[in-house]
Amino acid sequence: MIKPLNFLVSAGPTREHIDPVRFITNASSGKMGFMVAEAALAAGHQVKIVTGPVTLEYPEKAEVIETITAMDMHAAIMTNFPECDVLVMTAAVCDYRPTKTSINKIHKSDETFILRLEKNPDILLSVRRLEKNQTIIGFAAETNDVIISARRKLEKKRMDMIVANEVGGKEYGFAVEHIKATLLFKNGENRELGRCRKKDIAEIIVKEAIKFQESSR
Ligand code: CTP
Repeated sequence: MIKPLNFLVSAGPTREHIDPVRFITNASSGKMGFMVAEAALAAGHQVKIVTGPVTLEYPEKAEVIETITAMDMHAAIMTNFPECDVLVMTAAVCDYRPTKTSINKIHKSDETFILRLEKNPDILLSVRRLEKNQTIIGFAAETNDVIISARRKLEKKRMDMIVANEVGGKEYGFAVEHIKATLLFKNGENRELGRCRKKDIAEIIVKEAIKFQESSR
């Protein structure tokens, strides 16, 4: 039996404010991340969730760190990463944020409105593994070239495993119970899971994370 591990799980979307009442976000519900957290807790591990704005009930035994923006989430992950054994990044981090957030509500004026955006930091590219063995698992929600794009991300961001997730259809993707997933491993192996319940994928992720941890001991 492996000793209890520290899981750090990011979940949900981020929100990038244009003014106090408007923001850019995406359709992530946070369900996948919260299910990973539940699965890790059920397996006897310790869990910290760094979440964007979601409407989910928090698991009782998890420590939950609430964030809004990609910058907040970046800071929270960077602070908590050194302590974790396993990082699972399910969050759908907004790639860009407005260059300026207006303090006051913006009133309409011209026929066109140009919004200037700047890139957010990439959280997975920012984390640096410590001497102790740390496992990094990410997600890739893709509409096309699913496997090619996911493998490119796994390699670029030095992950141990990525869950490639086909989105865009009615049945699969955000705010639904099922996803069409393939697991891609750093050793080049791909494992097609087909249409799965998010809950089952969450359990598989936890099992694979434990295998990575055991194989390095
Ligand atoms: N991710 C991250 N920091 C970001 C964006 C994404 O850590 N600023 C993580 C996600 O949580 C996910 C993985 O990187 O685990 C892949 O995210 P995805 O949005 O699919 O890929 P991007 O790197 O944003 O690439 P692209 O814009 O080309 O889809």
